[in-house]
Amino acid sequence: MIGTDIYQAAELLRAGQLVAIPTETVYGLAGNALNEEAVAAIFAVKQRPTFDPLIVHVADMEGLEAYCRDIPADARRLAGVFMPGPLTLLLPKKDIIPDLVTAGSPLVALRMPAHPLAHALLSLLPFPLAAPSANPFGYISPTTAQHVADQLGDKIPYILDGGPCEIGLESTIVGWDETGSAVVYRKGGVAVEAIEALIGPVEIRLHSSSNPLAPGMLKSHYAPRVPLLLGDIPALIQTHQNKRLAILSFSQFFTEVNPDFQMALSPNGDIREAARHLFGAMRYLDSLPVDCILAELLPEEDLGRAVNDRLRRAAAGGAT
Ligand code: TXA
Ligand code: MG
Repeated sequence: MIGTDIYQAAELLRAGQLVAIPTETVYGLAGNALNEEAVAAIFAVKQRPTFDPLIVHVADMEGLEAYCRDIPADARRLAGVFMPGPLTLLLPKKDIIPDLVTAGSPLVALRMPAHPLAHALLSLLPFPLAAPSANPFGYISPTTAQHVADQLGDKIPYILDGGPCEIGLESTIVGWDETGSAVVYRKGGVAVEAIEALIGPVEIRLHSSSNPLAPGMLKSHYAPRVPLLLGDIPALIQTHQNKRLAILSFSQFFTEVNPDFQMALSPNGDIREAARHLFGAMRYLDSLPVDCILAELLPEEDLGRAVNDRLRRAAAGGAT
């Protein structure tokens, strides 16, 4: 059921059930992070392997302090500016966080969503919420309540509808390596440039199937079912003339292809608007009777870097 009642959502969560929740990044599949049965249910509903750890969502700074043992100075600086917001920090966990949540890692991923409904819900609860993106493992993250209902509607009792997600990309994940240097493990809703402006240069170490730290970031993540080909769209149209085509562009439409089968992410060329529309556009194009989706990269700056990361992963997953 889709609704807007945070009290009903809170009651279900207190009873150990799962609820899909809106955040400003993407919708999450939430359960009590301190209740192992609820956490196990998240993995089961999402069909996610238990070696892929979950982000823990808290309402405020006290929540953050309650579940990690230490907050380095740079983490505090980042939290001061980007929390609440689309930032996740990897910090040493307290024992109260079950090992199942972190897949045995001594680090816990902590995030403080800015979405007013998520914040209100977290403030009602005496426990934090473990929540991965509310999509079946490997598919495109949901940015509306309807996206969640389409895929998980019959598996969970309630979907809290907070409208379309304002950012539309998952949070940026930042951690600290053995030497204390900051590392970006996932590009997301906070631009790398904004992080570097605050704490100086950071290393970007994106997860891949060979990186055991966060095996969730497999290269084929975010994959539509229809193959997605990345490159110069006019050239791709030329070489795929015998195929039924869909197009995912930054701002342009192409006369060679049916306009109903095209999504321009931002006709004005606004990178943030493009980011907000990316996952919805991928879902729509993936529902069409086409052989492939032709797509192009955004400028490699601001949230364009995170969008391009998702497009490259989608292309890797859909390749034929
Ligand atoms: O914006 C977001 O972060 C959304 C919303 C719902 O908060 N959540 C989200 O969760 O994207 P998920 O599970 O789809 O992606 C979380 C990523 C995974 O790649 C996971 O491997 C990594 O975070 N992660 C979580 N806990 C970790 C940990 N303890 N150590 C390393 N990586 C971790
Ligand atoms: Mg996900």
